[in-house]
Amino acid sequence: MGRMMEQQELISLRDLAEGLVCMAASAIEEKREELGDVRPYTLTKSSAVDPVTVVDTMAEEFLVETLLERRPGDGIIAEEGSARRSTTGVSWIIDPIDGTVNFLYGIPRYAVSLAAAIDGHVVAGAVINVADGSLYRAARGQGAQVLRGDSEEELHASSVEEAARALVATGFSYSAARREQQAKALCAILPQVRDIRRLGSAALDLCAVAEGHADAYYEHGIHCWDYAAGSLIAQEAGAVVETPALSVPGEEFRRTLAAAPGIAAEIGRLLDAAGAGERLGG
Ligand code: IPD
Ligand code: CA
Repeated sequence: MGRMMEQQELISLRDLAEGLVCMAASAIEEKREELGDVRPYTLTKSSAVDPVTVVDTMAEEFLVETLLERRPGDGIIAEEGSARRSTTGVSWIIDPIDGTVNFLYGIPRYAVSLAAAIDGHVVAGAVINVADGSLYRAARGQGAQVLRGDSEEELHASSVEEAARALVATGFSYSAARREQQAKALCAILPQVRDIRRLGSAALDLCAVAEGHADAYYEHGIHCWDYAAGSLIAQEAGAVVETPALSVPGEEFRRTLAAAPGIAAEIGRLLDAAGAGERLGG
């Protein structure tokens, strides 16, 4: 046994995640072409502006069925409700489409996110930007990479040293009351950083920090399926990452934060002082 075996297992979990998000991405694009405008095939969830399309449901079913065929004893936690207890110690955390609003509007920034966790810790994962094919992946201790066509690049968080020069990505809740709190905090943060981006997919925002396309990302109230794979990718790329425990429901409105190492402490203090602390409003 020992370390080699362990690393090989992590790499095989990562490879499986990578293969499955690619297959799901193809199925999503095919379905999108078949349907044309996806808006008529949409229902709402937690609020009137929280959408789920038939394509989200189809992609989740595909991922769950394939995982259960390949690794029958593993657990499942998934955004559209699939759930299964693990008998192997490994659980898969699935976001079939992260950035559903972008998907609805045809904005080319939506993702499939798939992570494997052992004992409540994410150990491997992959996120694919369905619209442009960029595939981000990581296994614990193995760094993070982005694959585009035949090219593979190691990911590194940015080397920025001052929050005042940081490009900060964030996102907002589907609840109007929560958005009001988030907007108040944002008013205090905006003058203290280079600028803000609201790009519409938490999973891809975390990959943006990994790639240096954003210097930091924070958001309150996201769910484990939004951040599981992306948080490992950002961490393996050298970012300082804080997430709630995987078992904490998004409804607790806790903070997820990923930041380049040179600004992580300063950004953390700035957010705390702006009312965007470890728990929104608390
Ligand atoms: C949402 C996206 C968005 C974030 C929201 C998430 P969904 O996930 O990640 O960027 O701001 O908090 O709920 O609904 O597109 O899967
Ligand atoms: Ca999501």
